[in-house]
Amino acid sequence: MNKTITGFSKLTKSEKIDWLVDTYFKDPASAKALLKQYWNDDKKLQQLHDEFIENTVSNYYLPLGVAPNFLINDKVYAIPMAIEESSVVAAASKAAKFWFDRGGFKTKVISTEKIGQVHFMFNGESTKLEQFFKVIKPKLIENAKPLTKNMEKRGGGILNIELKDKTQDIVNYYQLHATFETLDAMGANFINSCLEQFAETLKEEAQKFELFSSEEKNIQIIMSILSNYVPNCLVRAEVSCNVEELTENSNISAQEFAEKFVQAVNIAEIEPYRAVTHNKGIMNGIDAVVLATGNDFRAVEAGVHAYASRNGQYSSLTHAKIEEGIFTFWMEIPLALGTVGGLTKLHPLVKLALELLGEPTAKELMQIVAVAGLAQNFAALRSLTTTGIQEGHMKMHLMNILNQFEATSEEKTTLVNHFKTHTVTHSTVVAQIEKLRR
Ligand code: MEV
Repeated sequence: MNKTITGFSKLTKSEKIDWLVDTYFKDPASAKALLKQYWNDDKKLQQLHDEFIENTVSNYYLPLGVAPNFLINDKVYAIPMAIEESSVVAAASKAAKFWFDRGGFKTKVISTEKIGQVHFMFNGESTKLEQFFKVIKPKLIENAKPLTKNMEKRGGGILNIELKDKTQDIVNYYQLHATFETLDAMGANFINSCLEQFAETLKEEAQKFELFSSEEKNIQIIMSILSNYVPNCLVRAEVSCNVEELTENSNISAQEFAEKFVQAVNIAEIEPYRAVTHNKGIMNGIDAVVLATGNDFRAVEAGVHAYASRNGQYSSLTHAKIEEGIFTFWMEIPLALGTVGGLTKLHPLVKLALELLGEPTAKELMQIVAVAGLAQNFAALRSLTTTGIQEGHMKMHLMNILNQFEATSEEKTTLVNHFKTHTVTHSTVVAQIEKLRR
């Protein structure tokens, strides 16, 4: 059977679904029913979601959870988290509570600079290009004024444009490397529009520049695009307390726990296999808040991992030390986030998440997101260096296993009670369900 189609995007939603289910599914009627089951009854709301992307056939749910009791710079937050992985929200809440009683999280935005580049080819004398760039730099900025004037009114805009000679790496390759302040916007559209305008000015002005030969006048623009690597858009989050205050678990002394914790971080600093998993745990917290607040988690992921490799080897994003009896645990990460633009005013649950956070500025959101990441890493390392990860994780995963077996509410209550004092593994849960049903 032919499984390809032309003109799919032109079909109505219903026609798309009919074609899909008839072409790809053994039981088209139930596939169609399932897709429709996830439609929202509110037609307007459904249409809003349909129009976020192309070829929408249904909605894909993720749970939206909340981790309360986060004390950040003496202000309390309940943090919204959109994530499918069990135990992430529970771990965040636990870490929040733990640090609430020990002074909370301290955060600081270090910098907020965003970056974009025009990549182009110039076949000629680089000194002439440098001269040309000096002459046209004010014009590059001037011609972008219609795009930048609103941002400038609010205190943002273009910070600088530099010419970069990359001919050592690729013959004839140069860049306009531009930096921006985009305030509460993540800034992708603003930056890309400015860059495309720079590219146009660059090309036009080159044609008129008298010192250029006819070959040199033909600058070839390859592309104009922002960079998701933002090492100068940095936020720091930190917790600290006296080592003795770390006691909680009677099986391990506060000193031993602090030392094991610091060693665990040291290992992630030098061992990339561990660093990747360590940082993945941090991203469990970060992505969940980034997603809940309508931000671009792929951009954040790409930028954060690039930053984790900035010294030539992939390494831990967090750091920890014990000095004069004080345990300190911290992280500095790049986060380009927005609280205006994008989905922020469009997606009703994103609006709700931002209201829950007290309508933060982008800078405040950077701090909240960084805390979610640090808290998550704290919770993971705390489990890993004491009880092991599976105890807490499997407790949270219990409900997923029970749902797989379509347990009734009574069965769930009985089994959740049972596993308060027994080890959860897939097989022990299955055995208990079978026993109960016998
Ligand atoms: C699981 O999603 C995340 C952890 O593996 C993180 C870590 O190992 O630090 C628990």
